[in-house]
Amino acid sequence: MELNGKIAVVTGAGQGIGREISLFLAKHGANVVVGDLNLESALQVAKEIEKLGTKGLAYQVDVSQKESAHGLIQAAIDTFGGLDILVNNAGITRDAMLHKMTEEQFDQVIAVHMKGTFFCMQAAAIHMRQEQKGKIVNISSIAGKVGNMGQVNYAGAKAGLVGMTKAAAKELAKFQVNVNAVQPGFIDTDMTRAVPEKVRQIKIAEIPMNRIGEPLDIAKAVVFLCSDYSDYMTGNVLEVTGGRFM
Ligand code: NAI
Repeated sequence: MELNGKIAVVTGAGQGIGREISLFLAKHGANVVVGDLNLESALQVAKEIEKLGTKGLAYQVDVSQKESAHGLIQAAIDTFGGLDILVNNAGITRDAMLHKMTEEQFDQVIAVHMKGTFFCMQAAAIHMRQEQKGKIVNISSIAGKVGNMGQVNYAGAKAGLVGMTKAAAKELAKFQVNVNAVQPGFIDTDMTRAVPEKVRQIKIAEIPMNRIGEPLDIAKAVVFLCSDYSDYMTGNVLEVTGGRFM
């Protein structure tokens, strides 16, 4: 799965799953634009990438804002001379039970996951259609398949990403641009460390493989979908859950 010289953009790349995806893409030879709201953490990851021997560029982005998201894609083209890979990974949670969820909590989650992915895919598609090649991977969640208590906003957004992935895959297939999604299960990051310990243990006990997922488990699936090993796959949703909710 060589990605030598490929140019990748990863959103939400400053920590957690996005950081691991960025580093694993770099390990396979890609130059990576590390896009994150948090510039400090993006700079750290860009440094780690340079140590691996490829180029890393930290870029402060709010993917929910059109100009900002389009600027991120343009930065890859201007700095590295193109764009081969886009991974839409940036995400937030604003959990609340349905009867208590505010409009703001709903809108914020939809804006980052759905609008953010829309803006980044749109800017990338303009370039990739011209180049007649490209790989787009959208990070959904198993919550988009099975739902989750307190996450009407998040599960809705993550299910929405599946529809967006398939629609974009149909549009872009004739340009040799693959669009796929990954649905992670329960992965050990700040997002899940915020879950109360008792709930965490219940969720881990439900995993047939009997362990919480690591960011690298997701990065491996993403790199596969960014490589030519998956050239004949588009519109797919890969569940990476240790067997939970199969
Ligand atoms: P995390 O909270 O550790 O990292 C998320 C990153 O996204 C942070 O660096 C944050 O600064 C960045 N970000 C947030 N809003 C942004 C915005 N508007 N623009 C740009 N960057 C922004 O989360 P984690 O766990 O690494 O999750 C990554 C993705 O994987 C998310 O889309 C999440 O929904 C998804 N996911 C995570 C699972 C888990 O168990 N951790 C399970 C299923 C899906």
